Amino acid sequence: MAVLNPPILQRLKKYQHFEALDVHPEPQGRLTRLVGLTLEAVGLNISVGRQCKIILGNKREVEAEVVGFHNDKTFLMPVQKVEGLQPGARVVPIHAHKNLSMGDHLRGRILNGIGQPLDGLGAVNSSSKVDLEPSTINPLHRHPIDQPLDVGIRAINSLLTVGKGQRIGLFAGSGVGKSVLLGMMTRFTTADIVVVGLIGERGREVKEFVDHILGKDGLTKAVVVAAPADDAPLMRLRAAQLSTRIAEYFRDQGKNVLLLMDSLTRFAQAQREISLAIGEPPATKGYPPSVFSKIPELVERAGNADKGGGSITAFYTVLTEGDDLQDPIADASRAILDGHIVLSRDLAEEGVYPAIDIEASVSRVMPNIVDEGHLQQAQKFKQLLARYRANKDLIAIGAYATGSDANIDAAIERQPFLKEFIMQKMSESCAYLQSRQQLQGVIQPASVNNQQQAANTEQNGRQLNTQVQNTQQQTGRPSNNQLQASPLQKQARQKNARPLARSRS
Ligand SMILES: Nc1ncnc2c1ncn2[C@@H]1O[C@H](COP(=O)(O)OP(=O)(O)OP(=O)(O)O)[C@@H](O)[C@H]1O
Ligand SMILES: [Mg+2]
Repeated sequence: MAVLNPPILQRLKKYQHFEALDVHPEPQGRLTRLVGLTLEAVGLNISVGRQCKIILGNKREVEAEVVGFHNDKTFLMPVQKVEGLQPGARVVPIHAHKNLSMGDHLRGRILNGIGQPLDGLGAVNSSSKVDLEPSTINPLHRHPIDQPLDVGIRAINSLLTVGKGQRIGLFAGSGVGKSVLLGMMTRFTTADIVVVGLIGERGREVKEFVDHILGKDGLTKAVVVAAPADDAPLMRLRAAQLSTRIAEYFRDQGKNVLLLMDSLTRFAQAQREISLAIGEPPATKGYPPSVFSKIPELVERAGNADKGGGSITAFYTVLTEGDDLQDPIADASRAILDGHIVLSRDLAEEGVYPAIDIEASVSRVMPNIVDEGHLQQAQKFKQLLARYRANKDLIAIGAYATGSDANIDAAIERQPFLKEFIMQKMSESCAYLQSRQQLQGVIQPASVNNQQQAANTEQNGRQLNTQVQNTQQQTGRPSNNQLQASPLQKQARQKNARPLARSRS
């Protein structure tokens, strides 16, 4: 038997040690084709969702993700914008662990879709790294939606009450006040933390939203994740997923989170770009079928956790192009969300901001979270609005004779006050109990002045006042007595709500 010399023995030992590690080196691939945004590579044998780096000249690398395959071809998409791709470039699979250091240090930060800071305030670092894979909750273990969340907007708090853990669509065309409304909610809500996902908006808008709409106050209680329209579609998808993951983290810490995503439509469009690029056939309005399964996948992650855990109340803006509420994304979203708030261009053109179309909007959980009296008042408000709208044309041309119908008379008389009630300045906050109290004041018709009604109103007013005072003591927020009423509201109170006014004095 041949005797091996020591160096060879040494090398053999190393080889045996390597074999014991059970390591299977992955083959590297080569770029063969580039069509639109899709890169095609051969020689790879890795699963969908895996990360790769593409080695370009001059020591440059580009990160890409596997998004599909066909026979021996692997389809990849770059996560960021790329230039300088060459045929035959090496594609190397990498083990990028997707995680982010989560914690309170994220408050006030602005991140991109992969968790890198955009605000120039240094790296987001802490010892507690959290996996970016979504956490799953058994639907049977979810805590039911049974408490209202104060979003600081009068019309929403009182007429479309939102519950902790509810998911709502904000349906609107362009330029009717979505961003301003989201900014107001961020500043005025009583939620513990707000996570804002700005997906596919114009780049200029991101800065405008942060500097002007959110402001310093808003930003201190918010985490912003932004992927503007010029980011790669994969980055926009990741931004939506990252903002949801951050919200999940804070919910799992027992916090009440408000997640605001602007917009769900742009998320769907990013998914459409990817699916079409890898050859999925388009269906409704160019959207491939997979888009309609990605929306519920994202939206279902919001909501309540197990009993005792926190909640994610989420608002998703849905763009209704040409104010078309039948858009396929609008349709699909309406079906899976627990309510929708419609912003109307007509109201915005009249200068009614927030331009909430109360009749077209609905909060599906409201009946479960408010008391009977509140629900009836909200219904009364809607009836007054609907009655006026149904007879608007007759009234406008003077064909309606006052006194013909007491209900229509009441609707005409209340109309200016109802509009005034919906309107809210960008800088004005309206807490939940204030909103309720003001709703009670605004629906009382001037003609109704009998003793019984006065007594009831006075009693309700006292109860509400006590509630407001209690809340004020607990939260330190101003009561309705300290609210700055507009001239129209003052006039309305003096004229119509005397019993309530007496009870306040
Ligand atoms: N509560 C408000 N009070 C006064 N003006 C408002 C209010 N809300 C919105 N506006 C006006 O409407 C304009 C458009 O609002 P905003 O930028 O929020 O619309 P948007 O729906 O987000 O638009 P886009 O589709 O371009 O993103 C604002 O610049 C502002 O002038
Ligand atoms: Mg906007």
